[in-house]
Amino acid sequence: MFDDQAVLITGAANGIGLAAAQQFAKMGARVFINDLDADACTSAARTIREAGLAAWPVPGNVTDPEIPEQLIQQVLHQCGHLNILVNNAGFTWDGMVHKMTDEQWYQIQEVHTMAPFRLIRAIAQIWRPLAKEEMRLGHSHPHRCIVNVSSTSGLHGNIGQINYAAAKMGVIGMTKTIAREWGIFGIRCNAVAFGFIDTRLTRPLDEGHTLAVEGTEVTLGIPQNVRDASFAAIPMKRPGTAEEAAAGIILMASPLAGYITGHTLEVTGGLGI
Ligand SMILES: NC(=O)c1ccc[n+]([C@@H]2O[C@H](COP(=O)([O-])OP(=O)(O)OC[C@H]3O[C@@H](n4cnc5c(N)ncnc54)[C@H](O)[C@@H]3O)[C@@H](O)[C@H]2O)c1
Repeated sequence: MFDDQAVLITGAANGIGLAAAQQFAKMGARVFINDLDADACTSAARTIREAGLAAWPVPGNVTDPEIPEQLIQQVLHQCGHLNILVNNAGFTWDGMVHKMTDEQWYQIQEVHTMAPFRLIRAIAQIWRPLAKEEMRLGHSHPHRCIVNVSSTSGLHGNIGQINYAAAKMGVIGMTKTIAREWGIFGIRCNAVAFGFIDTRLTRPLDEGHTLAVEGTEVTLGIPQNVRDASFAAIPMKRPGTAEEAAAGIILMASPLAGYITGHTLEVTGGLGI
């Protein structure tokens, strides 16, 4: 399905991004695995390569203004082309409105909207001139697309997530804008909004998962009573697996979705319908 296509996935050392990297690689893609956690990034790429598939680690914090451009250049240096960008990196830093700090707000906007914006802007420098030249010569365009990761929190809001809900709704606005601006170049841009997917972001709080954000340890996870209530609200009565979530990304990146752009695919087990 993705033979020889170069795919860059941010935040791909764990959870949904890792599952997507594995699925893309199995389907013939050359996968570039970015993550904040350099060791996990290297080990994820090594495991894929040991299975005889193609993967390279490209560690780095996507909120560092220099990193997006560097990631694109690393892919081009290795493969000569880039076909698919998956903006997946992210985390939650929850708090009720009256307790949320400016730092919580800004960090969440940085990772979920600023970083994807910078990556998309960096890709514009590569893809737009190529597409214009293809049009001038009357050639067809190779497969190029972007998949941005959103959330049901962006679609519907969520208690304790005013920062994350704003950012994930922002992702949908960016997706539709790129679809409008780049449709003429044959470049598609879609979003996938996940509901409750079983990763460390949604594990019980007492499992103690954390993420270091500029010197602050951010606690990841959800209180058990909120998890139980969430499962009850899902028509399929269970969380999705990282593999099921990744399949939504694959679906939107696939050439089978060749006439789908500006869309937000809900991968939720029916949550929010
Ligand atoms: N798990 C869910 O239920 C759920 C629901 C809706 C949306 N999402 C979104 O899915 C995406 C993947 O989340 P996940 O559940 O797989 O979580 P995860 O923690 O398992 O994976 C996210 C990865 O992103 C990396 N990351 C975080 N900040 C980064 C940065 N600044 N630069 C580079 N890498 C960074 C982390 O190190 C981690 O490996 C996120 O955008 C998340 O908001 C998840």
